[in-house]
Amino acid sequence: MSELNVIIVGFGFIGRELVRTLREKIDKIRRLDQEFRIVGASDSRGYLYHEDGLSLEKLSSVERLSDYSTEYCEGGSTEELIEKDSIDLMVEATPTNIKDGEPGLTFIKTALSKGVHVVTSNKGPLVVAFRELTNLAEKNGCHLLYEGTVAGAVPIFSLIRECLQGDKIRRITGILNGTTNYILSRMYFEGTSFELALKEAQERGITERDPSYDVDGIDAACKVVILANALMNRNVKFEEVERTGIRRITQEAISLAKKSNFAIKLIGTIDRRIEVAPKLVPINHPLCVHGTLNAIHIETDLAREITLVGYGAGKETVSAVLNDMLTVMKRKAESTQ
Ligand SMILES: NC(=O)c1ccc[n+]([C@@H]2O[C@H](COP(=O)([O-])OP(=O)(O)OC[C@H]3O[C@@H](n4cnc5c(N)ncnc54)[C@H](OP(=O)(O)O)[C@@H]3O)[C@@H](O)[C@H]2O)c1
Repeated sequence: MSELNVIIVGFGFIGRELVRTLREKIDKIRRLDQEFRIVGASDSRGYLYHEDGLSLEKLSSVERLSDYSTEYCEGGSTEELIEKDSIDLMVEATPTNIKDGEPGLTFIKTALSKGVHVVTSNKGPLVVAFRELTNLAEKNGCHLLYEGTVAGAVPIFSLIRECLQGDKIRRITGILNGTTNYILSRMYFEGTSFELALKEAQERGITERDPSYDVDGIDAACKVVILANALMNRNVKFEEVERTGIRRITQEAISLAKKSNFAIKLIGTIDRRIEVAPKLVPINHPLCVHGTLNAIHIETDLAREITLVGYGAGKETVSAVLNDMLTVMKRKAESTQ
């Protein structure tokens, strides 16, 4: 039987949705771990810690951690929280920073160095220091799982690691950014201009704070780096990804493609090349999905072709984070049998 003391670092959209989901699914979780508890949570201003566990009911009812109780340690750092005794798993969901990976990179390194397992939805640390982090996890006998970092709820890492163990992955292609897919879909179906479709996406709140992360292919390139390093044994740096965004895609180009039964999609490709660029995709190809959907097409020696389609962001991402947490629980339970 596993007994996990968990901390949640970052109490924003993902952190809060996770807490609500844990509360909802607590019976399922307790079947694996009767003692499961959230002992701490932090945001940018401080943290909560209680060794006997925080109340999931109360935690899921507050918007800010400081509203939970006077136990909130204002000004306390996440590092202090990670250093507390008896923490087994850290769920890390702080903002993505692809320049230096911080603050998540330091949190993950601190946790792994202490032998604390890590589940993260934050691309930044993995883009900046993938090998360093996986080596640190291995050295300290920890699990480092990051299903939510690429294509949200789409279980690409679990599928390849669990279900394609004997396959050689030859090529991965994918629509890895839902915002650009939304923009290109509006242009394709409604004849909207790029500028108007981008404005609509911003109004719907589905762009990054700086939309160039989406439209210039930066976000998709980060995901390509993680996929290449995690699943195809590469050691790719972000700067090595050949990257072209969608700013120059005109309505004329989309219409011309449509007449020949193609759509233009922003595709990340990992084979001999590592690139993100707009491509013509036949409308009957499984990758040709629309709206904010993501899709990943895997080509292998044995299974040949598999395509996964699903939601790349939003609260659906919690599915991936929770699955990673349950995986850590299962592995811990197996190792103590
Ligand atoms: N939202 C999605 O749909 C989605 C999908 C897939 C992956 N992700 C990734 O998941 C991560 C979290 O996303 P989100 O949407 O939840 O972001 P968010 O709403 O901006 O929340 C980020 C949280 O991190 C906290 N934080 C910032 N600096 C911190 C520090 N030094 N110590 C502790 N906490 C700190 C913030 O604190 P304050 O509350 O005090 O500001 C906030 O609670 C990001 O890396 C994101 O890219 C998000």
